[in-house]
Amino acid sequence: MKSIVILISGRGSNMEAIVRACAAEGWGARIAAVISNRPGAAGLAFAAEHGIATAVVDHKAFAGREAFDAELQRVIDAYGPDLLVLAGFMRILTPAFTHRYAERMLNIHPSLLPAFTGLHTHARALEMGCKFVGATVHFVTAELDHGAIVAQAVVPVKAEDDEASLSARVLKLEHRMYPQAVRWFVEGRLQLGGGLVRQLDGVSQSFI
Ligand code: GRF
Repeated sequence: MKSIVILISGRGSNMEAIVRACAAEGWGARIAAVISNRPGAAGLAFAAEHGIATAVVDHKAFAGREAFDAELQRVIDAYGPDLLVLAGFMRILTPAFTHRYAERMLNIHPSLLPAFTGLHTHARALEMGCKFVGATVHFVTAELDHGAIVAQAVVPVKAEDDEASLSARVLKLEHRMYPQAVRWFVEGRLQLGGGLVRQLDGVSQSFI
């Protein structure tokens, strides 16, 4: 049985999709804990209601990133995770932290990477006149929103779209894509090599 720890900062709808899929599809894995850097994160209540251990490591209580990451690591490692899942976790991580969980930490980012790293991705895509937007699941490296791409979801932009309508449509696909990507990892169906991720069954890694 693989052990998964999920980090959130807010709503936690991707975490919820992963928790539900893990239970409904009977993965050989358990969600060992959901950890938030914000005490008020809405997703903590969902996790607790579903019998999952929760913890808060409040970044505001630490003088710097190193101290915060060290405490976060201590709390995470108590659960001995095989996989760390960042699901709307809004903190920049130190190289020491990303190195510790190299090749076993996934993130979801709401853009078609390598375009639009950072914040406000859909608004920036609209400003640039992009005709497609999307989201990416990738392995986490020390460089923000970089790392080998596991899966991507693409959404066409309609004339009447705004940031809210786009993020709502992309989020729906995130909720399909992220559980699938995590399941692939749990089942050992992902092979990393040369900075690329191959799905060993040869199934498509794109979500439309
Ligand atoms: C998602 O759009 C995700 O791509 C981004 O932050 C949002 C998190 O939403 N990183 P939720 O907390 O999973 O509901």
